[in-house]
Amino acid sequence: QLRSSIVFCSHPSRRFLSQTANKDKLIVFDTTLRDGEQSPGVNLVPEEKLEIARNLSALGVDIIEAGFPIASPADFEAVARIAKEIGPLMNGREKVGKPMIIAGLARASTKDIQRCHEAVSHAPLHRIHTFLATSDIHLQYKLKISREECIIRAAKAVEYARSLCEDVEFSTEDAGRSDRDFLCEVLAEVIRAGATTLNIPDTVGYTTPEEYGSLIKYLIQNTPGSDKVIWSTHCHDDLGLATANTLSGITNGARQVEVTINGIGERAGNTSLEEVIMAIQVHPSAFPVYHTINTPLLYRTSNLVSSLSGMVVQPNKAIVGTNAFLHESGIHQDGVLKHKQTYEIIRPEDVGVFNVNIVLGKLSGRNALRQRLVELGYGDLPDADFQKAFENFKLLADSKKRITDLDLLALMRDQMLTP
Ligand code: KIV
Ligand code: ZN
Repeated sequence: QLRSSIVFCSHPSRRFLSQTANKDKLIVFDTTLRDGEQSPGVNLVPEEKLEIARNLSALGVDIIEAGFPIASPADFEAVARIAKEIGPLMNGREKVGKPMIIAGLARASTKDIQRCHEAVSHAPLHRIHTFLATSDIHLQYKLKISREECIIRAAKAVEYARSLCEDVEFSTEDAGRSDRDFLCEVLAEVIRAGATTLNIPDTVGYTTPEEYGSLIKYLIQNTPGSDKVIWSTHCHDDLGLATANTLSGITNGARQVEVTINGIGERAGNTSLEEVIMAIQVHPSAFPVYHTINTPLLYRTSNLVSSLSGMVVQPNKAIVGTNAFLHESGIHQDGVLKHKQTYEIIRPEDVGVFNVNIVLGKLSGRNALRQRLVELGYGDLPDADFQKAFENFKLLADSKKRITDLDLLALMRDQMLTP
């Protein structure tokens, strides 16, 4: 009863209030432009990263990891430009009312941290995110250092980052396969050195939800100084468990989640932002947190990331796949026609999917196109711009049976128009 009244409650402000009572704010750290860009074959140029960052700001994410500044001059430029141009913008919903934090990644070395600071410090709110592996397999074979050396390097890196910046995140790479008590030792030292957020990556997507949740709980309970920091999840999807692991992390005390749009990222990808957010929205009583993501912009952001990254979204992908709200079988169609909630747990418009039943193609008229462009965020276009868009649409429709939102976004971008 409570659940459905919240999910389907029509007034957004009422829904927001009912979700926030006695709950902690969930900090959404989007790493589409850093870990997401590490997907095989993806290479975004600075202009494309800026466009995605602008969308992420409108979407209302709290922190955006814009890149890995020491990795290349182009990545440095992208992070610096995002910090300058997007960093000062007011974030998403008006009630959030503050700019996003712009973060950059740095290995635990002075040179990396300096370069990262140079790039992110243009933003009014910025963060240095530094990391070091903690699993024996990484220490022995990759870094070739002892556990003692690992603790010294981690603390030194955080201390140096804190001398430059007040907001410092530390990640224990491969925490999912690290010894828990050793993790507590490293984490206690980096808290002493000044870290403000502790991120616990399941770098290779190895853990199960029970295991990952219990790891977060154990670290919070056994690390001296744990109450002074925010605990964060960072999960990979090698076993298809990234979303479940992230949710389990929240249940066990994490208050920041590291996620990407469409779940893009190394190998099988990262935790998908839209899945975590909608799971919390559909099950408000199951989680002790609320979010401030502007969910009607999810579909548009997904389309943009897909078209710029070239990473196609599988049709049956939860929340943003093209089939996510389509009903094929007669029994389902009959049920939905009688009452939408028979087969829909989310209203399509709550994630920015409109008129799934109206297909745009060569027989579509001006009104259908105008309405779809408004739904995609283009507002009321000036007549000349709309006329041009309509002509381009008709040309495209001659060569393609069905024009998708993705096609329309590409068409509008070619016309140099942004939502
Ligand atoms: O997966 C991982 O361990 C990472 C860290 C660098 C945070 O992406
Ligand atoms: Zn990662």
